[in-house]
Amino acid sequence: MCGIVGAISNNRNIMPILITGLENLEYRGYDSAGIAYSKDNNVNIIKVTGKISNLKQKISKDVESNIGIGHTRWATHGQANSINAHPHKFKHITIVHNGIIENFIEIKEKLKEKNYQFKTDTDSEVAAALLNYYYEKFNNIEKAIKEFIKNVIGSYAICLMLDDDLENIYTIKKESPLVIGTTDNTNIIASDIRAILKYTNKYYILDDFEYAKVNAKEIIIKSKDGKIINKNLKVFTEKNIDNSKGHYNHYMLKEIMEQKETILNTILPFIEEGIDSLEKLPDLTKYQEIAIVGCGTAYHAGLVAKYLFKEIANTKCNVYIASEYRYQNNFLNKDTLTIFISQSGETADTIAALKLVKNKDCPTLGIINVKNSTMSFLVDKCLYTNVGNEIAVASTKAYTAQVALLSLLVLAQAYRNKSLSKKEVLQIIEEFKNIKTLVNDVLNKKDLYQKLAKDIYKEEDIFYIGRGLDYALAMEGALKLKEISYIHSESYAAGELKHGTISLIKKNTPVISSATNANLNAKTISNLKEVLARGANVYLITDENYKEDNINIINIPKVNIFIKSLLIVIPYQLIAYYIAVLRKTDIDKPKNLAKSVTVE
Ligand code: M6R
Repeated sequence: MCGIVGAISNNRNIMPILITGLENLEYRGYDSAGIAYSKDNNVNIIKVTGKISNLKQKISKDVESNIGIGHTRWATHGQANSINAHPHKFKHITIVHNGIIENFIEIKEKLKEKNYQFKTDTDSEVAAALLNYYYEKFNNIEKAIKEFIKNVIGSYAICLMLDDDLENIYTIKKESPLVIGTTDNTNIIASDIRAILKYTNKYYILDDFEYAKVNAKEIIIKSKDGKIINKNLKVFTEKNIDNSKGHYNHYMLKEIMEQKETILNTILPFIEEGIDSLEKLPDLTKYQEIAIVGCGTAYHAGLVAKYLFKEIANTKCNVYIASEYRYQNNFLNKDTLTIFISQSGETADTIAALKLVKNKDCPTLGIINVKNSTMSFLVDKCLYTNVGNEIAVASTKAYTAQVALLSLLVLAQAYRNKSLSKKEVLQIIEEFKNIKTLVNDVLNKKDLYQKLAKDIYKEEDIFYIGRGLDYALAMEGALKLKEISYIHSESYAAGELKHGTISLIKKNTPVISSATNANLNAKTISNLKEVLARGANVYLITDENYKEDNINIINIPKVNIFIKSLLIVIPYQLIAYYIAVLRKTDIDKPKNLAKSVTVE
């Protein structure tokens, strides 16, 4: 994770570029931050704990410089404090680093034998020390970088300032994204082009094992053996990037409310002309099996799709957490299509799993939100969710767009393999066209969600239960709540409670559930009664007209199975949001988290 920015110019002060860049990169981590810049041929470093706003306060307004590097951190090695914050300086070398140096302990020990002393607990300081060691050994920074690439195991995007050469920034890349933007007499390095769009939309992408020497006039990119690489200059053309909160207090609420537009925007090209549009979706009938890989909320979207593929389209489907998938035997073969789901397209575990499948030459499909992200280049085919920037750490509008797209893939499959008749498919498509009204209806029950939030926000344990599709949704409900409210919340298959977990139910423990499957609802309600009998406060989201003593009912419109999950998740998102408001947490940037998880 973490965000990197570096800038060098011969006609402007680069401090505002560093600060704006870091503010735009804060979604990658916000534990601590720092910058290094040159003043009168000296490298000055400022580091703070917490957010970029703290860093800004520490930088005096009149500081100007023409070369500097900056970093916003999500701690991996060592606590989130100002000592462990980047930049790290080791004698001649100052660096900011994204990624993880896996063999840092071994390197540290070797350097200690050579009397190197370390001040921090980080792997990044070891990277700086190693670069310094090679620099002193060869008296040549490029040789040092090449040796570094040869000997370091792990992932890195590094920006480096050298005391003896403050006319250049050096940058090195492996497995962590890095771009070099260019504009008149100023070049800017960043871990995401979106961070520097205020200054330029023209950029080069560095590939793994490449390094570059960047000064105000030129950018020289080289391979790990020192050969110059001529890269194509890319132009970022995405428009209408709206990073404002509008009239909302939090991005999360804004993004939840946007779902009345974003779901339809995502799926419209595949439904507007009925079956003809649906046919634009990739044909999955040629595969024996579908595998789905993702992390967190993206994994939960996959669980919804698994249910639909199996139950409706009669298609074998399995879903995997990316961090598990990459270290297990997946019996990969060319008859299995693996679908990778990711909002950011930069999640390290999902990228690693994707590379694994690609290395075996097996087919892949991406469901990704961010265009030009690492994953979007790697997959054989990409379907974009097109929800615009999702800024809040808690994923909401990306999830519903992922579920909607996956649902249409299932619908197309069910049409092609005749699990559903043409008439049934057309009816479902018509209902999808009405999604805006349906979503609006559920979003508008604000008072109900706020009341529920008020009833339970002081609790420390909340359970989410469900069966089938409702279990997949319970998992997303519990995740949403825990990540922004810091309440311990668990999801369970409703029938599994009495095999252990029910012992945790006590007076007033909230148990929230949804029941949307006519065949299973009676069983879920029995499970709710079991916890009710043990003192729980019970809430049920349903599209049926149930009236049960002591069960608080939240009704959603009655819709087909493909649309249900898109509606049920909205109360879950808003309940989590209003609870977090009452608990006064930092909703958009919850503690310990980051928007894009670019480390393993
Ligand atoms: O960018 P991705 O979709 O690959 O991210 C996956 C997870 O890190 C992400 O969904 C995470 O679980 C969210 N914070 C959940 O709200």
